[in-house]
Amino acid sequence: MTLSEQALAPARRDDIVPVLATARLVLRAPRRSDVKAIASFANDRRIAANTARIPHPYGIEDAEQFIASVNKREGEVCFAVTLDGAPIGVCSVDLREDGPEMGYWLGVPHWGHGFATEATRALIDHAFGDLEHDTLISGARVNNPASRRVLEKCGFQWTGVRLSRIRAINSAAPIDRFRLDRGLWASLKSWGRASRVEYD
Ligand SMILES: CC(C)(COP(=O)(O)OP(=O)(O)OC[C@H]1O[C@@H](n2cnc3c(N)ncnc32)[C@H](O)[C@@H]1OP(=O)(O)O)[C@@H](O)C(=O)NCCC(=O)NCCS
Repeated sequence: MTLSEQALAPARRDDIVPVLATARLVLRAPRRSDVKAIASFANDRRIAANTARIPHPYGIEDAEQFIASVNKREGEVCFAVTLDGAPIGVCSVDLREDGPEMGYWLGVPHWGHGFATEATRALIDHAFGDLEHDTLISGARVNNPASRRVLEKCGFQWTGVRLSRIRAINSAAPIDRFRLDRGLWASLKSWGRASRVEYD
């Protein structure tokens, strides 16, 4: 790339995407070597139909395009969720018309182990703690109780239902909308254990 091309190309923001470690997972910027895993996990209707923008079917070219374009927009922070060094899903915060919005998906073989809750809690701490957002919003299709439960376990509160377009079904569907504000997050994070004392 020439100097003038470099000046025109949108800067890749991977360098400002930190690496976040949880008890079992590492969250880091998606990279080219993730293409195969992301394409194979995302090519499942159960994922595409529950997210706004993932197409179905989802091939290698879709994953390549995703990796090439991610973490370039101002306000967007996107992580590959990795387990033992291998990508198992994606989570992100992106600036949308209603504010910073959290999205996430995991490969189906990894469902049911608490990984989404563990990954999104790290993302939420990053969004409030490092990015200094005051609110986060998210959504789950009304027939997606697992995602609703993830949001509830993270402290999100239901705000209503909205019709939103789902690319994979080429139609709109009702989405439960949720919100978490900084005050609630800070309260949950500081909720210490009470100690039992003798009382007479
Ligand atoms: C939603 C998703 C990320 C959840 O991943 P996960 O790692 O299985 O989630 P967790 O294990 O952390 O938590 C799931 C919770 O939902 C519960 N759950 C799962 N299926 C459920 C069902 N059919 N009814 C009620 N609760 C259900 C689980 O029991 C668990 O709650 P618990 O810990 O209180 O028992 C995963 O299913 C997914 O990728 N779905 C497709 C994409 C998507 O929906 N993304 C979110 C919208 S942007």
